[in-house]
Amino acid sequence: MSMENVKHFLVVLSAAAAAGTVSIIFVLRWVLHFREGLAWDGGAAEFNWHPVLIVIGFVFLQGTAIIVYRLPWTWRCSKLMMKFIHAGLHLLAFILAVISMVAVFDFHNAAKIPNMYSLHSWLGLIAVILYCLQLVLGVGMYLIPFTPASWRAAFMPLHVYGGLLLFASVIAVALMGITEKLIFGLSNPKYKDSPPEAIFVNVLGLLLVLFGALILWIATRTSWKRPSEQILHTLHTDGGGEDSSKIGPSLSQLSDGTDDETSGDVRRRSNKLEDQVN
Ligand code: HEM
Ligand code: HEM
Repeated sequence: MSMENVKHFLVVLSAAAAAGTVSIIFVLRWVLHFREGLAWDGGAAEFNWHPVLIVIGFVFLQGTAIIVYRLPWTWRCSKLMMKFIHAGLHLLAFILAVISMVAVFDFHNAAKIPNMYSLHSWLGLIAVILYCLQLVLGVGMYLIPFTPASWRAAFMPLHVYGGLLLFASVIAVALMGITEKLIFGLSNPKYKDSPPEAIFVNVLGLLLVLFGALILWIATRTSWKRPSEQILHTLHTDGGGEDSSKIGPSLSQLSDGTDDETSGDVRRRSNKLEDQVN
């Protein structure tokens, strides 16, 4: 990546990190300041774990897991190490999502509220189940050493599309949940009277959309992709790519994002290499 390209990446990454961090602060302030706090007692404070664990785990950790391969300072780490970090963060996000579901089911049962009646709960449960499937298939395809490289390459577009679709869906489901909770929870003054809590939590919804939009932007820039293993190996063993004439295409030529003839040609070649190592 060229210096300019790295700079653009860092600007978007910082914005995503800020939106994500502020979202976590907002959801904590919501339940601790405006609501009943956090406890595991079958009451409203147990329900509150639901949005908190969703925002920290299913939104923030999942978003982080999706972009870890894109961090330029991790390109010196082995691909296997990065796979463990990607898979580990997704696993942690999944565990927190499951605990957040236990909290809301437990709260509903204790308060004799029916389960699974809303569109929010249907889409939410579907998202958690498909996320579990994505996790199992991801481990089976990319972590188990026996899986043929041809299967890995063939499955990759589905893995990436499925992952991005799930991430976007989780944000949409979170927005539905936020809206439901504001309508149920606010009385005197009501949601329609715009009390401070309503405005504050609406802003949390905006922040979640902003975080999602930035993560999806990062994950869909081809010029910010991790260079293929062969190319990284060549650069490491041949002196860091200072002399690109000696070792063929340098990193910056490969992923500059410029679409002139030569770099397009180089990109096609590098993509082919990449397919072999996924
Ligand atoms: C209920 C999943 C985010 C608020 C539920 C239920 C599920 C679920 C499966 C049904 C529980 C039951 O029937 O006993 C999810 C998922 C989320 C998410 C996967 C991740 C995006 C949120 C957020 C809020 C929220 C951020 C904000 C407060 C609620 C409320 C209920 C609920 C108020 C009870 C009413 C209902 O069943 O629709 N959620 N939720 N959810 N959730 Fe979420
Ligand atoms: C890439 C999502 C689990 C291995 C990706 C990408 C997404 C994604 C969106 C594209 C990232 C990019 O283009 O930079 C998910 C989700 C998962 C999950 C939502 C869990 C629910 C796993 C697991 C593995 C894995 C368990 C096993 C190691 C990979 C690999 C790539 C990838 C090898 C390609 C990285 C590259 O292009 O350099 N994943 N993933 N994923 N994922 Fe996953």
